[in-house]
Amino acid sequence: MKQNVRVWDAPIRLFHWALPPLIGFMWYSGEQGGEWLLWHIRVGYVVATLLLFRLIWGLIGSQTARFTQFIRGPKAILAYMRGQLPEDQIPGHNPLGALMVMALLAALLFQVVSGMLSSDIDSYMYDGPLIHLVGSEWSEQITVWHKQGINYLLALIAVHVGAVLFYLWGKKTNLIRPMVTGIKPIDSDAELDRVEFIPPIIALVTLVVSAGAIYTLVTRL
Ligand code: HEM
Repeated sequence: MKQNVRVWDAPIRLFHWALPPLIGFMWYSGEQGGEWLLWHIRVGYVVATLLLFRLIWGLIGSQTARFTQFIRGPKAILAYMRGQLPEDQIPGHNPLGALMVMALLAALLFQVVSGMLSSDIDSYMYDGPLIHLVGSEWSEQITVWHKQGINYLLALIAVHVGAVLFYLWGKKTNLIRPMVTGIKPIDSDAELDRVEFIPPIIALVTLVVSAGAIYTLVTRL
């Protein structure tokens, strides 16, 4: 028997589903270059805000969003891989999936930070807002890494989507629906404590603070 349990809060779901169009736009505008870079930078601030929000939410947010709740050691990862920790008994990210989540967030963070330090080598019209912190030589090197970084990020996303589809078709476990609705079917025999949720107003305040912090970073630093 399964019971429907609310596992993902709205902030996590909104954060997640904002990413595919935003990353798609960042990739396309970066590839186009030229005038597109103006919007590449502006939308980059949106990505930076959402990422900062997610990092803070990983510290103070709802239970399934918190890093301390889902980052597990090698023992738990091995137990999960041996099938000793069934997916339908885990309310949030499984120990293996958690590695993927951290890799995706780290790759996003690398892109955001390196983007802010990159220069527009073709026209120097649309430089990142923080290049003065590193000087032009370093900035040009960081631009090379920023351009390579998107390929690693896209590769990680391909593995991520591939894994989700493997769960769907190979293991007959739909992880996508819970990420859309927030509700996951959990084994009724699983001894779960109630999943703890933080009120959405706190998420909204965190988002506004994140936007303010990014604005201050790019205009005042
Ligand atoms: C730009 C593309 C994408 C990025 C950067 C991305 C990133 C992420 C991140 C960071 C998480 C962790 C959520 C959190 O705790 O904050 C996650 C989870 C998840 N993503 Fe994606 N994602 C992308 C596209 C997709 C797509 C297209 C699908 C569906 C086919 C998908 C399905 C899922 C699911 C089901 C989870 C939850 C996994 C679980 O149950 O543990 N993602 N994704």
